[in-house]
Amino acid sequence: MITTYIMAGGSGSRFWPLSTKKRPKQLLNLASEKSMIRETVDRVLPIIRPENIYVGTNILQVDEMRKELQDIPAENIIVEPEFKDTAAAIGYGALIIENNHGNIPMIVLPADHIIKDEIGFRHILLKAVEESKRGNIITLGIKPSKPDTGYGYIETNSTISVDLFKSTSIDVVKFWEKPDITKATEYINSGKFLWNSGMFVFTTNMILSEFEKYLPEHYKILMEIKSILKNDNVNLKSHFDKFEKVSIDYGVMEKSDKLKTIPVDFGWNNIGNFTALEDIFEKNQNGSINKAGKLIEIDSKNNIVISNQTVALVGIENAVVVEKDGNILICSKDCVQNIKNVPDKL
Ligand code: GDD
Repeated sequence: MITTYIMAGGSGSRFWPLSTKKRPKQLLNLASEKSMIRETVDRVLPIIRPENIYVGTNILQVDEMRKELQDIPAENIIVEPEFKDTAAAIGYGALIIENNHGNIPMIVLPADHIIKDEIGFRHILLKAVEESKRGNIITLGIKPSKPDTGYGYIETNSTISVDLFKSTSIDVVKFWEKPDITKATEYINSGKFLWNSGMFVFTTNMILSEFEKYLPEHYKILMEIKSILKNDNVNLKSHFDKFEKVSIDYGVMEKSDKLKTIPVDFGWNNIGNFTALEDIFEKNQNGSINKAGKLIEIDSKNNIVISNQTVALVGIENAVVVEKDGNILICSKDCVQNIKNVPDKL
């Protein structure tokens, strides 16, 4: 039996004003008619039964999430009372899965990625599940195309060749989360690094023992939670308050010596910010992405425009213009990484 745990509790700041804390990126239909969480669940349904699919989300998002995923048992939508990042989320998810199924392989997936070759993707997941049973953490590594500082990097000791169906896992020398641009450039030039896709496969026992080693405070809180998990109406707010806010990448992956990686190539895009839409949608004759009610461009080009309203741009280039429910974003394409600071100022 296989289970999956989908991390779907991000706070959704990089796509403001489309995304908000209540309606984060994973609930948006950015790339297709379906929301990104729906896409993520549908992608694994051919290999994992609905009752073995778990989704971790925040208390603010849970109602929308349950509406969106009515085929998943309501109790499998795991509710976090605070935004404490992916280490706490995965630790808590592993506890619940182990409580329900015993020690079992757990595929951890982000809720906001696009994958073109779904058959190839599922093939790799099944292979990674088999390998995880040997006591390793299997990461899926993507061949990098540029020195992007928004990703984790997986260092290997050989030059990487990506051959999807022949790939098996290879040793990881070290995991480096979000290096600066100088380091990222060095990594890319060496040819020995992969991007971390953010997808991991391990058994529940294995990940909990890595928490015990590398995140002992998290482990202590998780064991307190474990002791009351079977009680009715448990309120975990005071436990979550105690978790340090840290991602699984910094908290476990950078430290663990149990990492292996499978180099994969299944048409992956993580839609990290508005400019990623340029990889998905066709541009108009001005080189712009037009998702507006009506777009008028005069002496304007290479823009990304999203609104249900009519938008007129005059003498505007390389801008992101987004309107939603009366909130307006106008941002230079070079600065899209800083959109995440907007919600804090509201
Ligand atoms: N349940 C839950 N709780 N999910 C969370 C939380 C939380 O507190 N915080 C984030 N998530 C979810 C997000 O919704 C998303 O699906 C996933 O976890 C990844 O979170 P991000 O915060 O968006 O991560 P990132 O993109 O900056 O970096 C991660 O992904 C990259 C690939 O896209 C890292 O794993 C990088 O190493 C990796 O390269």
